[in-house]
Amino acid sequence: MSQADQLIIFDTTLRDGEQSPGASMTKDEKVRIGKALEKLQVDVIEAGFPIASPGDFEAVSAVANVVKDSTICGLARALDKDIDRAGEALKHANSSRIHTFIATSPIHMQHKLRMNPDQVVEQAIHAVKRARKYTDNVEFSAEDAGRSEIEFLCRIFEAVIEAGARTLNVPDTVGYAMPHQFGEMIRQMRERIPNSDKAVFSVHCHNDLGLAVANSLSAVSNGARQVECTINGLGERAGNASLEEIVMAVKTRQDVFSCETRLDTTQIVSCSKLVSNITGFPVQPNKAIVGANAFAHESGIHQDGVLKSRETYEIMLAEDVGWSQNRMVLGKHSGRNAFRTRLESLGISFESEEEVNAAFTRFKDLADKKHEIFDEDLQALMTDTKTESFNERIKLVSLKVCSETGETPKADVTLSLDGAEEPGTAVGGGPVDATFKAIESIVSSGTELQLYSVNNITSGTDAQGEVTVRLEMDGRIANGQGADTDIVIASAKAYINAVNKIMIPITKAHPQTGDV
Ligand code: KIV
Ligand code: ZN
Repeated sequence: MSQADQLIIFDTTLRDGEQSPGASMTKDEKVRIGKALEKLQVDVIEAGFPIASPGDFEAVSAVANVVKDSTICGLARALDKDIDRAGEALKHANSSRIHTFIATSPIHMQHKLRMNPDQVVEQAIHAVKRARKYTDNVEFSAEDAGRSEIEFLCRIFEAVIEAGARTLNVPDTVGYAMPHQFGEMIRQMRERIPNSDKAVFSVHCHNDLGLAVANSLSAVSNGARQVECTINGLGERAGNASLEEIVMAVKTRQDVFSCETRLDTTQIVSCSKLVSNITGFPVQPNKAIVGANAFAHESGIHQDGVLKSRETYEIMLAEDVGWSQNRMVLGKHSGRNAFRTRLESLGISFESEEEVNAAFTRFKDLADKKHEIFDEDLQALMTDTKTESFNERIKLVSLKVCSETGETPKADVTLSLDGAEEPGTAVGGGPVDATFKAIESIVSSGTELQLYSVNNITSGTDAQGEVTVRLEMDGRIANGQGADTDIVIASAKAYINAVNKIMIPITKAHPQTGDV
């Protein structure tokens, strides 16, 4: 495959994806996702915005320390302090990239930046030159390019290439573009910018009108050779372009696209499950590629067709994206070493022997209830174990729920609050409702429940239920997760996890709207 034919996949799940309200990730979670993305053979991983907070800085450095087969990228506004912080966070990466950006649309320059176009060009050139002191691999983004004037984009891009940028990113920041228009914009820029052959054109589309993938693919047809995207389309508001849809469209329609990705597509489903599990954002069943129904044929006519010849209704193989790979990996008799090795192969590392012991005890408990343990069970078990250690203030000690025909369900719960045990009792419309009320009778969080969802992790009635609870308080949102073979216990864990998260004030800056 020649260089010109490679479509670079730039994954921003850990940065733009994390900007979804409630999707923030710990350092450890970012490392787990980073390793899964490396296994998927993503070319560039945008690991965070290092100036945003000390936690984000550490997470970017941690990913740069352990992920060696993908380029690790840090985001920086076109400001010296951001660029220096990104350079510092990336210093141990095998291959690093600094991604610097400034807004270029009239509306952003006038109202947000309060700068004139000449000042914006000057600041962009300065930023790129400063970033080049840390790495040869510098990307420049023209924020809100989708609503910027093409003449101005040509001017600023020509200048930043001259200053040393090797990737030019065209973000449709507010998801405003239409596919034909966006593709045409890329084509014109490639033609009109005199030094355009010295850089790779990239696109970064948001999904406000549901067109992020269509816009990205239109750009690829017009010469873009990098796409910025996220697993499951995670991202602010309606999300970013979904990685799995872009990659599978290019792979499936090789008759249309004159480029290929280097991704190992069989890793897609496990990455999707991991991201969903860690962020608590469930994947809708009818989501393309990674939804539970994406390859299910319900209607008799379809089933009949597929049985006679697969291609009648299937354009991709489920195995090619990693479905049907549910293998029993461990069971009741598996030892501590097998357990640890399997988790390490899933990118899960342990900070201490106590952590291995705690996780192994939980694994044995689970294996008693559920005979076949799949990779997905292990992922959920570890999210649960790590979540519990994060749940510093409130912990579930015990739960008893009575639910009987003709009777009102009642829950008795004991929580540990900063180490002191407190009991609570409540009745409710159902066992879960009673449980949440009993927890509230102790914690009085003052939060409002916005979402409650249950998914089974694998199939069968002994499968673990994975519960997501979204709570809101004073405009802040927190997602909590819990997994257990008993869904009422999983629900209690998820509720407590969300309460713990919402109580921690987040002092993390937003790259596009926040001050640092
Ligand atoms: O959407 C956007 O414009 C961004 C930039 C920072 C690239 O996320
Ligand atoms: Zn974005």
